[in-house]
Amino acid sequence: MTNPGITGTEEFDVLIIGSGAAGLGLALELPPHVRIGLLTKGAAADSNTYYAQGGIAAVLDDTDTTESHVTDTLKAGGGICDEDAVRFIVEHGRAAIERLIDLGVGFSQQEQADGKSVPHLTREGGHSHRRVVHVADATGREVETTLIDRVSELENVTMLEHHMAVDLIRETGAEGHRGRCIGAYALDIKHETVRAYGAKATVLASGGACKVYLYTSNPDGATGDGIAIAWRAGCRVANMEFTQFHPTCLYHPDAKSFLITEAVRGEGGKLLLPDGSRFMDRFHEMAELAPRDVVARAIDHEMKRLGVESLFLDISHKSPEFINDHFPTVQEKCLEFGIDITTDPIPVVPAAHYTCGGVVTDLSGRTDIDGLYAAGEVAQTGLHGANRMASNSLLECLVISSAAAEDISTSLTDVPAPPTIRPWDESLVRDSDEDVVVSHNWDELRRFMWDYVGIVRTTKRLERAKHRVDLLRSEIAEYYGNYRVTGDLLELRNLTVVADLIIRSAMMRTESRGLHYTLDHPEPDTTRPPQNTLLVPPQR
Ligand code: FAD
Ligand code: SIN
Repeated sequence: MTNPGITGTEEFDVLIIGSGAAGLGLALELPPHVRIGLLTKGAAADSNTYYAQGGIAAVLDDTDTTESHVTDTLKAGGGICDEDAVRFIVEHGRAAIERLIDLGVGFSQQEQADGKSVPHLTREGGHSHRRVVHVADATGREVETTLIDRVSELENVTMLEHHMAVDLIRETGAEGHRGRCIGAYALDIKHETVRAYGAKATVLASGGACKVYLYTSNPDGATGDGIAIAWRAGCRVANMEFTQFHPTCLYHPDAKSFLITEAVRGEGGKLLLPDGSRFMDRFHEMAELAPRDVVARAIDHEMKRLGVESLFLDISHKSPEFINDHFPTVQEKCLEFGIDITTDPIPVVPAAHYTCGGVVTDLSGRTDIDGLYAAGEVAQTGLHGANRMASNSLLECLVISSAAAEDISTSLTDVPAPPTIRPWDESLVRDSDEDVVVSHNWDELRRFMWDYVGIVRTTKRLERAKHRVDLLRSEIAEYYGNYRVTGDLLELRNLTVVADLIIRSAMMRTESRGLHYTLDHPEPDTTRPPQNTLLVPPQR
C-alpha cells in the first residue's frame, strides 16, 4: 500500500462535514461570498436523507395548527422535549417547505375542490392530523438530488467527495487551554492521505449512528462519526439512550436495510400476526398509528411470544392503483423478492432507525465549542426528547441548518483567519497487517448492541455490554495508535465511542421512558421531574 502521508492545509471560511439535508441545506443558505468546503465521506448522495420515504411534517392544511403539531411532538417525546425548540422548529415548517419547493422539489400533489393543486398530505404515527408532505414514497431521493443539483451550481462551494473527517482541530491557547474550533483533519479515502482543513466556522452535519446496531434501516455511513468527533473535542452529548427502532423493515435474507414506510400504516395498512389476526389494538388506542416505540415494542413482544422471525404488514385491501400511486418504491423493492404488496402481506421486523440524542446545540446549531456548529441527526436540539415523531427530523435538518447559516454569516467577519495548523503526523505509524481485527470487532460490537442494548433492556444486559465495549475501546485505541488510518478503522473507532455513550446513558436512566424500556424499571420515574441524560466529556 502506498501512503505518502502528510499534506498541507486547505482553507475555507466555512467547513461543512456531511452532504445530507442538513449539510446541503446549510451550504445553500450561506451568502455567495462565503468560501465553503463541503466534505463528505462517500459520494454526495450517500446519506440517510436519500433514503427517507414518508416525508416532511409541517403545518400546511387550514384545519391543522402549530399548536397541534407542537402538542403531538411533546406527547411523543415522553416529557423531555424542550418546548422552545419544538415551537421554533414547528413554526418554521411552512417556510422550510416553501424553500424546498422554490429550490425545485416536486412534492406529490392533490387537487382541491376548487380545482387548485396543493401538496398531498399523508399521515404517520403520533400525528393527529394529515401533515406530512411527500414525494410518493421516495421523498428523500427527490430532496437529496435536488439539493445536490442546486449546490453544484454554486461557485463558492468546493465539494470534496470520499473525504472523511477524522477529528476536529482546536486552537491551543495559554497553558494548553483549548480554544475555538479552527477546522478538521480529513482522510482522502481514494488517495489514502490525511489533510488539515482550516475554517473560521466548522459544521458537523454528519448524521446519526444507527449502524451501531446489527439490524438497521440506515445505509452504511451512519456510524455516528460526528457525535464521536464532537465528544473527543470536548462537546457535551445528550439523550443517547434514545435510539428509535422503526417497527417495519422488510424481512428477507437478501433485503438489506429496506424500510417499509410508516405511511403504509398511515394510509390504512394493518399489522398482522402469522395467523392473519390484528393485534395492535391490544397495545394502544391508536392501534397501527400509535407512536413508533409502542408499535416496535408490540411487534418485538409478539415475535418473542410466538417465537417467529417476522410479523406482517398488509395494505392489499387498497386498490392496486392506490398502492402503485402512493408506494411505487416499496412495491418495486418487494417485487424483487417475490412479494406483490397489492395482494400479499409484507413480512416485517423492527430495526434501529434514528438517533434521537446527539451533540448538544442551541437553536442556531451552536455547540459548546466556539466556531463549531452541529445540525441534523448528529445534534440534540431538544426537539425529539425521548422519542422522535415521524417526519420531524428532515424538518429539523432544514430549520436548524438555516438558523445556523444565519448565525455563521453574521459572525464570520469578527473571526480571524485560522492560525497555522500542525500537519497530520504519520511518522510513528505503519500499515496494518491484520485488518481482521477491524472486521471482527465491527461485527461483535453491532451484535452485542442489538442483543443487550436493543428494544428491551435490563440492567444486567447493559452491564454485559459495558464490559465488552470497554475491552473493544482499549483494543481499538491501541490499534489506532499503531496503524495508519483507514475508513473502516475510523468508523469502528467512532462506533465504539458512540456505543459507550449509548450504554452509559441507558445505565443512567433508571426508568422506562419513550424509546428507553428496561424490564428492571418498567415505568417512568414519577418521583422527580423528567430529566435529560447529559454526558460531559472528561477533557473540555
Ligand atoms: P444524513 O442525511 O445522514 O447525512 C450525513 C452526511 O454526513 C452523509 O453525507 C455522510 O456521508 C456524511 N458523513 C458522515 N460521517 C462523515 C465523516 N466522518 N466525514 C465526512 N462526511 C461524513 N426522516 C423524516 O423526517 N422523514 C422521513 O420520511 C424519513 N424516512 C427515513 C427513512 C429511512 C430509511 C431512514 C434511514 C431515515 C429516515 N428519516 C426520515 C430520517 C432522516 O432521513 C434523517 O434523520 C435525516 O435525513 C438526517 O439528515 P442529516 O443531514 O442530518 O444526515
Ligand atoms: C417512514 O417513512 O416511515 C420514516 C419516516 C421517518 O422516519 O420520519
